[in-house]
Amino acid sequence: MNTLVMDDAVEETRLDRQGEHIVGKPLDRYEGPLKVSGTAPYAYEHLAGEEVAYGFVVTSSISKGRIVSVDASRAEAEPGVLAVISDDRIPRTSAQPMSGGAQVVDGRVQHYGQPVALVVASSFEAARHAARLVDVEYEAEQGRYVLSEEMENAVKSEGGVMPADTERGKFEEAFAAAEIQIDETYTTPSHHAAAMEPHATVAKWDGDKLTIWSSGQLLETNLKQIANGVGIDPENVHLMSPYIGGGFGSKLGIGPDAIMAALGAKAVGRPVKLALTRPNVFQATSRRSETIQRIRIGATADGRITALGHETWAANAPDNTFFEPAGVSTVFLYAGENRCIRHRLAELDTLITSAVRAPGEAVGMLALENAMDELAERLDLDPIELRRRNEPDVSPQGDKPFSTRMLLDCYEEGARRFGWEDRPSKPASRRDGEWLIGYGMAAASRANQIVKSSAEVAIEPDGRVTVRSSMTDIGTGSYTILQQIAADMLGVDPSDVTVELGDTRFPAGAGSGGSFGANSSGGSVYVACEELIEDLAEKLGVDPGSVTMSEGHVIADNRRQPLTEVLGGERLVSVGTIEPGDTGSDYEQASYGAHFCEVAVNSVTGESRVRRLLTVAAAGRILNEKTARSQCFGGQIWGIGSALTEELVIDPRTGLIVNHDLAEYHVPVNADVPQLEVVFLPERDPHSSPLQGKGVGELALAGVGAAVTNAIHNATGVRVRDYPATLDKVL
Ligand code: MOS
Repeated sequence: MNTLVMDDAVEETRLDRQGEHIVGKPLDRYEGPLKVSGTAPYAYEHLAGEEVAYGFVVTSSISKGRIVSVDASRAEAEPGVLAVISDDRIPRTSAQPMSGGAQVVDGRVQHYGQPVALVVASSFEAARHAARLVDVEYEAEQGRYVLSEEMENAVKSEGGVMPADTERGKFEEAFAAAEIQIDETYTTPSHHAAAMEPHATVAKWDGDKLTIWSSGQLLETNLKQIANGVGIDPENVHLMSPYIGGGFGSKLGIGPDAIMAALGAKAVGRPVKLALTRPNVFQATSRRSETIQRIRIGATADGRITALGHETWAANAPDNTFFEPAGVSTVFLYAGENRCIRHRLAELDTLITSAVRAPGEAVGMLALENAMDELAERLDLDPIELRRRNEPDVSPQGDKPFSTRMLLDCYEEGARRFGWEDRPSKPASRRDGEWLIGYGMAAASRANQIVKSSAEVAIEPDGRVTVRSSMTDIGTGSYTILQQIAADMLGVDPSDVTVELGDTRFPAGAGSGGSFGANSSGGSVYVACEELIEDLAEKLGVDPGSVTMSEGHVIADNRRQPLTEVLGGERLVSVGTIEPGDTGSDYEQASYGAHFCEVAVNSVTGESRVRRLLTVAAAGRILNEKTARSQCFGGQIWGIGSALTEELVIDPRTGLIVNHDLAEYHVPVNADVPQLEVVFLPERDPHSSPLQGKGVGELALAGVGAAVTNAIHNATGVRVRDYPATLDKVL
């Protein structure tokens, strides 16, 4: 058992001493063949061939009010129906990520599509049919569904992932006195994570013990939430989630399926499978809040920011304190002595809002990076030059040093590769037939953190290595990078390393969320491997610092001995843990990047087509060039979506989420996405972890949508401040 608390910089690592042979390489996904051959079991696919029952969820047809009665008699009379559950243990949405459990139905309806009952039957079809026969009587009330109408009632919430207010100096005075003033309001719509794999669970009881397979990002939290919801001791729950078809924040907390499947299985005395339908996923898990953001920038005539204000209004359901932290990057991205970053939260009678991919940056940087472009235009300054003039030496909020910050390098490298000097200097000045051509850029930043994470690493007597952790792989590449780290640390071939994840019997892993998974779980594997090397050194009677692991050999004291020989038939095992310490709070730590975009806007129809998109990123050590790049492609595509197509539409009259499937909720498809380019700058952040890496998954999403709309402005002269920039707004 070895624990590393990150109180000091890790300047020199074993990966550098021994040589980074495998870490960083674009290895194919370890579990890829299982996935493409359909043999990797996702949550719903467990217990194939066993006698199971199936659940189907009954959902509310009003948005706000009281449940007067639930009459299940017609449903229960149907053939195959085993149970109908409609008591107050039914969860009304997903659980908020860090909360102890799900919010339950207490006789109230809080949003359209809220689960109110569960039907369990011997076949899926019977359950679905019977669910339509459950008669629910409601007493409906008028709800509140529109954020702009509730702004005045918005309050300061302390329940977010950042303080609601961050202020410095005298913002109002400085802004009023500024030579140049930008004061604009941007609106962003609600978004949905829309993960390909719906929230799904298989639950099985064995006496008091619950075995459960459920699609989740943070298994340690998820296990406690399940135990809470079902009303049992967490010791009696065994949760597994070995393969996950995307989460994007929507699976940080358990979906309503997890508790319902467990309740259903208990009620009918056999395992229950329950997958949310696509409309259930859209209407009964969680969503990103719509936002209204007022940005005020005061600057000198030569483009130095003197006052920076970013006020955000976001929504959540009653009793929910999470607010979309849209100002998170504004705190440290640009200089300026007088600052005012505020968030206010309004109540709406709609589905809860929670973390969706890059919570905060994804929509906050749409507004901020658009406003910076507006300031550059006003100053007749190149947008990159404006950003250079406002590059802070230390964090403009707390005067903390940055751990590492290669933002200027990202601009420079990106501008060179993209050919930024060819940008049309005046809006609406370049044509290609009926298409108007424009270039836009934006900064990217994403705050970095590590979270406590543990992993067990064992070296078997034959020299093979096994890594185990309840860490998850939500499609990001965790299996592969942990294999790479163990292989380099112990000097073995990656094919000799087996990685087992997504099982709460293993040491508690960080889970996947907030782009902290790779660095945190990888750090724990590093720490475990160091202890194993100490054990080997002890066997040889040498100093562990003098040991080098290479090609299946232990090299020490000028002797090169086969690993198996040093083991001498023994199995060595270690659990490594990494946890955040002082370096996280002593330094402002983030990943940075720059986006460059070329769009073509049709002068007849107003449709915008992204022609080129380049992201240059600096995110510390890149652990796998291929999986990291795939994550950035994902971010870029999210950015295109947030700029042009994605909008979760809530009916202002009824509160219904109108576009509750993938046909109507428009994520970009291949035809919307050009050849994407992602470049990583070499960087090491000694304050992040012994891997010296930082989060990359959400970085490429931050700001990219603004690069697209800034390019639309450059192409057309039209400034869209109400996202997405659909053609009706551009024409
Ligand atoms: Mo993150 S919001 O878990 O994609």
